[in-house]
Amino acid sequence: MGTEGKRVVVIGGGPGGYPAAIRAAQLGLDVVLIDRGGLGGTCLHRGCIPTKLLLKETVDYRKAATFTSAGAGHSMPPPDVDGMMRRKAQVVDQLGRGTLGLLRKNGVRVVAGTASFLDPSRILVLETSEIFDSSAFIVATGSAPARLPVEGGDLPGVVDSDAALSIERVPRSVAIIGGGVIGVEFAQMFRNLGSAVTIVEMLPRLLASEDDDVSVALRGALESSGIAVRTGATVERIVMTPTGLRLEFREGGAVRRVDAGIVLVAVGRKPALESLSPGKAGLFLENGAVRVNARMETGVPGVYAVGDAVGGLMLAHKATMEGECAAQNAAGVPTVASYAAIPRVAYTDPEVACVGLTEAEARERHGDVRIGKFPFSMSGRAVLEGVTHGFAKVIAEGETGCVLGAAIVGCQAAQAIGEASLAVRLEATVGDLADLVHPHPTFSEALREAALDADGRAVHMPPMSKSGAVFAAGR
Ligand code: NAI
Repeated sequence: MGTEGKRVVVIGGGPGGYPAAIRAAQLGLDVVLIDRGGLGGTCLHRGCIPTKLLLKETVDYRKAATFTSAGAGHSMPPPDVDGMMRRKAQVVDQLGRGTLGLLRKNGVRVVAGTASFLDPSRILVLETSEIFDSSAFIVATGSAPARLPVEGGDLPGVVDSDAALSIERVPRSVAIIGGGVIGVEFAQMFRNLGSAVTIVEMLPRLLASEDDDVSVALRGALESSGIAVRTGATVERIVMTPTGLRLEFREGGAVRRVDAGIVLVAVGRKPALESLSPGKAGLFLENGAVRVNARMETGVPGVYAVGDAVGGLMLAHKATMEGECAAQNAAGVPTVASYAAIPRVAYTDPEVACVGLTEAEARERHGDVRIGKFPFSMSGRAVLEGVTHGFAKVIAEGETGCVLGAAIVGCQAAQAIGEASLAVRLEATVGDLADLVHPHPTFSEALREAALDADGRAVHMPPMSKSGAVFAAGR
């Protein structure tokens, strides 16, 4: 393959950078990985892993509290926040050590420090002044929470998701600015612990890039757990009061207020490139992100960029796909990144998992589409588990039945969406999905039922309008 002696320097050890380093090493490159914040990146230290761990712990707490209060009158002790934080630290440490071990076993040299380009072929580690010469670089520096330029945005108690993951006690009340993925996941985490929670979202819907029925189903679940949701609401300012913070926002022409112990700002993330001196390497930035083509090439020969640093969907698994793509190209194996089947998940209860085109996008691009839908209220597994909220939906091209996308709101949606991703990726039809035998009783059967519905042969739904009564409960 002609890679002998060729070096690649990977900047960033998150889910974009470390798989890139491993793939490059597998292909025979001499790999140096420079990371300043601990291997695993945002995903391991401030994102996917700690949030899912805390969501799990807080769901367990809520269930135990519900069970206890329904029982013989015992009262539930308050949540053990210290214990949750200790477990989080333990898991992060274990997974971080695992990542380091994997890199070492693949012969990757891991350097701790902040990398900064001197020119397109040299990079400096600021803390040690070591300089690495290379003909190939993969920029995988990740992102940081976006700040909200609003009066009072820097008051004590106004926090981003990084700080919210390290709370020392349960806040009495939380106001969350932003009803995207971070907003809804943290809303549920705090609500599970007993906080009063209000989400203030600027757009008309939660998870606004997903379909309307998905947003409506999630909103219903959040509201029935006691979370207040204000949409179409623009934040005006945050002020300090004798008892905490007050968030003022404009909704339908009127100014409204919500008092809260903390205000969580969750209005998106921005690429983290400041220390890298991207200009010295000649990198071109667009809206603050490194511009790349489908091979993750930046336009500067030998310099690739991946993950949150290039914008788009800021998801760990998208970063990994791009990292492996860049590594292959750096090693001379021509590879193009594929974005058709990247799952998008909110780990709420019920979970929201989508892949491919939304129904709205499919209608716009293809005109003639087939939609199949199945409510969890008709799933044997969901009924026996008592978790019937939500539905599965399959979106297909009208004439061919080719699966274009899917959305699931419901228990174990994140696990079930993998099957829909495969269908989108392999350009399978709704008939293919419907003919696949699924284990019974499982939540995954809902996707098959939705595919059957799109194919005009639903079994576990009465032969009636899909938008009719059977969906009333699930929405
Ligand atoms: P986001 O872009 O998903 O949502 C931000 C929300 O804030 C939007 O709905 C936007 O309309 C709203 N907003 C913006 N300015 C506002 C204002 N002034 N007042 C009220 N609302 C305002 O960003 P989020 O939730 O911060 O997440 C950041 C990134 O991290 C995303 O790319 C997300 O996909 C990723 N992430 C993924 C997770 C997952 O895969 N489960 C979990 C957490 C984050």
